[in-house]
Amino acid sequence: TSTFTYDPGFTSTASCESSITFIDGDEGVLLHRGYPIEQLAEHGDFLEVCYLLLYGELPTAAQKKDFDYRVVHHTMVHEQMSRFFTGFRRDAHPMAVMCGCVGALSAFYHDSTDITDPHQRMVASLRMIAKMPTLAAMAYKYHIGQPFVYPKNDLDYASNFLRMCFAVPCEEYVVNPVLARAMDRIFILHADHEQNASTSTVRLAGSSGANPFACIAAGIACLWGPAHGGANEAALNMLTEIGTVDRIPEYIARAKDKNDPFRLMGFGHRVYKNYDPRAKIMQKTAHEVLGELGIKDDPLLDIAIELERIALTDDYFIEKKLYPNVDFYSGITLKALGFPTTMFTVLFALARTVGWIAQWNEMIEDPDQRIGRPRQLYIGAGQREYVPVSKR
Ligand code: CMC
Repeated sequence: TSTFTYDPGFTSTASCESSITFIDGDEGVLLHRGYPIEQLAEHGDFLEVCYLLLYGELPTAAQKKDFDYRVVHHTMVHEQMSRFFTGFRRDAHPMAVMCGCVGALSAFYHDSTDITDPHQRMVASLRMIAKMPTLAAMAYKYHIGQPFVYPKNDLDYASNFLRMCFAVPCEEYVVNPVLARAMDRIFILHADHEQNASTSTVRLAGSSGANPFACIAAGIACLWGPAHGGANEAALNMLTEIGTVDRIPEYIARAKDKNDPFRLMGFGHRVYKNYDPRAKIMQKTAHEVLGELGIKDDPLLDIAIELERIALTDDYFIEKKLYPNVDFYSGITLKALGFPTTMFTVLFALARTVGWIAQWNEMIEDPDQRIGRPRQLYIGAGQREYVPVSKR
């Protein structure tokens, strides 16, 4: 009797108007504020893309310098935050740690939780962009039992992050610029992707007026799932499980079997039905990193390339328009950079924070903004009388 449109998974419902990111899934186009992702990844750096997403235009040299300075200014986290980390079990998944610690920021930065004040919103935005690498590196260090490394603010964003992850007090650490560039590019490729599940989660959480730190924590929780940000971890685990090229047909057969829940992780996308433009750049980056590190015969890369070749020529995958997505190649690259699989989704969250923040700000500034409140089609029991437990 209801007149609501039933749209499970929101495949045909626009939840908002947005001028941040444009995707044409059929043509494999991804634009941020009108600029193609290929050009941003090739010529830009991550903080420039952050500025673009937040303010709508590429910065001038002076604006860029000022923005970089303002971000750097916020890279430290309150010293008490370290106790949050040490409160977790050592074997805790770093995403669990991130969900907790990012949410906890709300309790530390009371001066940037008034969402009606544009200045406070911008301070909160810069804080999160600046502190995510610090928190992500702390999650990693705690995970492997090494001391936390403080940010070093004369380094660029990606180099600083790599240093916080891989430096140890007993040795000099020199950032490899090729690897830092690759890290930066991975951040750019993950910076925003319009109304995906985690971004929609951030908007929905924010629509109630919740503070930005809490909203981003909600986004991190959503991103964790294997169908979303957890796919990079799942993709690498799958390649490891396949183990050798000759076992690929077995896994292809499983992916096609309707009675088997197995899916080829890193394949398919809700929106891209031609190819994922990010995957192409990611593939190139993977080769650059492996080349720089002198990794010639990575068995996982061999499996990935062969799997991609077979899947792209297989009728099932062609018919269902299943192509490798960004997560297919990011896992191989992150592994080569030295990250364990458990950190992959954390890195995705780090990079996506700016997208979440930009979308959250856009929502708050939207005059049509109301609390998000989906309706439902009720299919449960009709009204009935309560029966006391003694009579049931
Ligand atoms: N392997 C095998 N079959 C698949 C796959 C796959 N990876 N993906 C979709 N299919 C099949 C699916 O079984 C279904 O077949 P049928 O029509 O016969 O029932 C058809 O293709 C459509 O699938 P769907 O689940 O209805 O598509 P969706 O748009 O709801 O899901 C997806 C998109 C990305 C969740 C899905 O393709 C998937 O689970 N892929 C693997 C996980 C993954 O790589 N996720 C990362 C996405 S990109 C980064 C991000 O967003 O975080």
